Amino acid sequence: MGKSQDLYKKAKTLIPGGTQLLSKRPEMFLPELWPSYYEKAKGCEVWDLDGNKYIDMITMGIGACILGYADDDVNNAVKAIIDKGGMSILNAPEEVELAEVLCSLHPWAGMVRYTRGGGEAMTVAVRIARARTKKDKVLFCGYHGWHDWYLSANLAEDNALDGHLLPGLAPRGVPRALQGSAYPFAYNDTKGFRELVEKYRNDIGVIVLEAIRNTEPEKDFINAIRDASRELGIVFVVDEITSGWRMNLGGAHLLYGMEPDIAVFAKAISNGFPMGAVIGKTAVMEAAQETFVSSTYWTERIGPTAALATIKKMRDKNVSQHLVDTGKKIQDGWKAAAEKNGLPVEISGIYPLGHFSFTDKEPLVLKTLFTQLMLEKGYLASTAFYASYAHKEDHVDGYLKAVEATFSFLAQEIKKGNPGKHLKGPVCHSGFKRLT
Ligand SMILES: Cc1ncc(COP(=O)(O)O)c(C=O)c1O
Repeated sequence: MGKSQDLYKKAKTLIPGGTQLLSKRPEMFLPELWPSYYEKAKGCEVWDLDGNKYIDMITMGIGACILGYADDDVNNAVKAIIDKGGMSILNAPEEVELAEVLCSLHPWAGMVRYTRGGGEAMTVAVRIARARTKKDKVLFCGYHGWHDWYLSANLAEDNALDGHLLPGLAPRGVPRALQGSAYPFAYNDTKGFRELVEKYRNDIGVIVLEAIRNTEPEKDFINAIRDASRELGIVFVVDEITSGWRMNLGGAHLLYGMEPDIAVFAKAISNGFPMGAVIGKTAVMEAAQETFVSSTYWTERIGPTAALATIKKMRDKNVSQHLVDTGKKIQDGWKAAAEKNGLPVEISGIYPLGHFSFTDKEPLVLKTLFTQLMLEKGYLASTAFYASYAHKEDHVDGYLKAVEATFSFLAQEIKKGNPGKHLKGPVCHSGFKRLT
């Protein structure tokens, strides 16, 4: 771990929080022992700075690389565009081609705007929605990034976001004037959603929902959102940044009969190159003309080129079917290994985005030890698995053998009473925590 740990120690003195993304902090996985930095990544293999090779059985770049790292088809398309010029005073024609592709996959949508990040794409969506309805309040469910509109929910109640993926996000620096502008509701909590609508009915401009994360949406819940949006003229935004492309070609909302006014894609849409897309009904999207939404690098050419190549490959290879099949094998494997060894775990998530949690006491100790033992076997592993097209049968079989052995060890050590004694470093963090 020599070079990685030295570099991460230095990073923490130069970069507040050490990294640019909370979910990539080494402390989230294996404090003081995580490889932290990579030299090279290809397929689902990753080489660290000390020359060690691992297989990524976690999230493939936090869900960004649905085809696998450094995919040849996407890389070749991008390389060709780099040589032709990734930026100019004129616009990139790929923007128009991509808009046509996205609107043909989502026939309810007529117009598209672009960003490069997911959180900023969500912020554009919320801005357009507020511009359209001329109402400020946002009701939301799920995780949507770091911007003021979202974090402002924590100004009202400092645990408002705890049920929304990342607990404890601090809203310091978010203007207090935004207090009372965003309110969370829980997934499938139709009653709670209706109560919020009743309470703020005249002031709600936007409803924001992650299409799917852990459980399938209930019909009543979707109907309640659709009915409230229509009745009150609210713009309904689905966030497909993590859910999109996993179970079908396009947004998961297509599978569940959600009828959004806007849908937002990023991350997996371009397989590791920055790209975000906000698609929507023409009348709603035209509100972008009544406000100011504009940024230089939203015009560069690599993002839309990578997105076109990624979507083409996802279509040609029926990638979503591979993700569902692979994710199912993994979830079945976790279940079988846990049952065989009498290890209490709870499994959740749609197949392409699976999770498990240890339900014995000291779940974080077990999670850290699992990661440590799997790392020793050559796997980057934690309690989540996001399937990619690069995960083939051999990877899955090898990983599940390693899981079986690790679960067996954990179960034995739980019986002996002190699994934590095998940890070689501190216990991992569970959410947002200041690094000191
Ligand atoms: C559903 C959802 N929305 C928004 C975001 C924020 O995207 P980004 O990290 O690209 O800003 C994420 C990232 O994890 C996400 O999963």
